[in-house]
This record gives sequence, C-alpha cells and structure tokens, in this order.
Amino acid sequence: MFIRNAWYIAAWDDELTDKPLARRILNEPVVLFRDKSGNASAIADRCCHRGTPLSLGEVVEGGLQCGYHGMVFDGAGKCVHIPGQDKIPDRAFVPAYPLVERDRFLWIWMGEAAKADPARIVDVPWHRDAARWGHRHAVMPIKGHYMLMIDNLMDLTHLGYVHKRTVGGNPSQHVDAKMETSRTQNGVRFTRWMLNSPPPPTYKAAYGFKGTVDRWQEFEWVAPSSVLQWTGAKDAGQGAYEGNREDGFEFKIFHGLTPETETSCLYFWAASIGFKQHDAKANDDFAEALRVTFIEDKDIVEEQQRRLSEFGEDWLVNIVSDGTRMQMRRVFNDLLADEQKLAAE
Ligand code: FES
Ligand SMILES: [Fe+2]
Repeated sequence: MFIRNAWYIAAWDDELTDKPLARRILNEPVVLFRDKSGNASAIADRCCHRGTPLSLGEVVEGGLQCGYHGMVFDGAGKCVHIPGQDKIPDRAFVPAYPLVERDRFLWIWMGEAAKADPARIVDVPWHRDAARWGHRHAVMPIKGHYMLMIDNLMDLTHLGYVHKRTVGGNPSQHVDAKMETSRTQNGVRFTRWMLNSPPPPTYKAAYGFKGTVDRWQEFEWVAPSSVLQWTGAKDAGQGAYEGNREDGFEFKIFHGLTPETETSCLYFWAASIGFKQHDAKANDDFAEALRVTFIEDKDIVEEQQRRLSEFGEDWLVNIVSDGTRMQMRRVFNDLLADEQKLAAE
C-alpha cells in the first residue's frame, strides 16, 4: 500500500543527463528525461505502440524517441512524431507525471495530477547554500519496504548496535538519551541529547574531539517519506545544550525514501556539513563515512525484510524505544486510510 498523493524523489538532478533514466516508482515503470533545452519530464516507461520500455530509446529534438520503431513522445507523454506517417492517432500517448526540479532533487507526483501542489514539497534550503553547508549526495537501492527505513530513522536506539564502528557509541547512552517527541503539521519530530558522552569514531575522525561531548540529534519526519536530520556535538559543557551550537561539529542529513515496490526502495541521502564546508576532502571523507554507516542500515533492513516477507508482521512486539516510531506509524496509517477513503467515494 502506498500513499499516492504525495511528492517522492525520483532522482538527483545530476543523475539525469542527456540519456533517459529508468526508475520503478510506486510499482510503476517510469522514465525520466531532459529535453534538448534541459527541462526534465517523467512519463510511463512503456511505448504505446508495442509496449517497449521507452528508457531504451534516446532523447531527440521534440522529446524521447522509442528505440524500437522511432515514435517520439514529448514531456507531457503525447506522441509528436511517427516515422512514415503524418496522422498521429488520438490514443498515441503515454501517461505523464508531474515533476518538479528543486533543491537538487527531481520530485515526482504519482497520484491525481490535479492535486499535485508544489507548495507541498519539502523545503531543503541548505542544499542551495553552499557557503554555509558543504554538500554531497547519493542514492542507494535497498531491498526492503521504504517504511522499514523510516522506522530505522525514528528509533535511534539501533545506533549502539548497528553502528558500533561508525556513528554509534555506547548503546546505553543511546537508550538513555534525553528524548522529546512532538507532532508537527506534516509529521513527527524528536530531539535527543547525549550529554557528556564519548564521541563516536566518525566524530573523532572528522573533528578531532579529545574528551567527552554534548551531542544532539534532531530528526523530523515529513510524511510520507522524508526525514530531515540535524546532528552535532561540542565539547561537553560548552553551551550546546543551552542553545549555543556555533563553532561545533554539525551536519544536516536529508533522507528521502522512494518506494520502488512493496519490498524495495531507493534511499536518497545528502550530507551537508556545517564545518570545513569548503574543504573538498573533509566533505568527501564525511560522505564516505556516512555511506559506510548507511550500508550498515541497509544490511539490517534487507535481512529484516526477508523475515517479514516470510512470516508477516502480526507476531512482532513493541518495546519502549518504539514510542516515536509508533507515533510516526499512526500518522502514516491515518494518512493512508484518509486517501483510501477518498478514493473509495
Ligand atoms: S514499440 Fe515504440 S515505436 Fe514501436
Ligand atoms: Fe542507522
């Protein structure tokens, strides 16, 4: 079950070059392409002539040309050229999807086109502020339901176990972290503080902390599938908890999960560092450390998915650390139920 009336990330802007890009989104084959003037579009990846994937074709003047018999489709999915004939049948078109290029993303809308309001796209202004925030991004395919990755981000008690060698630290410090959760207009947010705690390996390597730190983690889930993270640390007792986070080690991470199928998704993540912003190596090293961390999540979630596919979910038990995650799931389930109710009317 997917929430259809929502914006999802189809691709990073630099993934879409002069070649078409095939994606499966909400279980539909989609092809993205940029026309000769650079405008990006998304249409169904199946030619209305003989069903061939249009992603096998190429971008030509006027649109995307099917690689089988050469029909050309524009960004609205309309056939604009058929080799050897002048008349284009009325039914010669493929579905098109609203697509918006913003903050380095290509956002796609798979639901009712009339409801596709760009004002509902998550704002990520730091992707436009290279002076303040360094930027690296990537996309990682995961063989797991996308909500398992959102679950993972909404329960950070896994850090001490899954990420021992990277961003983890002492498990009990994660379990005992001071935690505040609140409902927002479009989701759920939480803040965690780990005061006077030993810095994890990634932090030490990136920033050179010598003693203990006051470490914060702010996470905001924006329904259905974005998580905005602001994390950092300062030497313990230097005022971070009281609100002075200046000159600390800090970074923002954008996590965007796009469902491919019921058991696979694409994980779009971006690392924006708020220290050594203009140091290319520091940016690269930090992004690499995150990539290694996210592979740790991917490995766990893929194995989890294998068991859930085999045994279902009715037998699972919730524990105290699931509180925020469950709150997120309640909001998600309400949104899904609302959409299904509307669709049934
Ligand atoms: S299948 Fe696309 S033009 Fe024939
Ligand atoms: Fe994780």
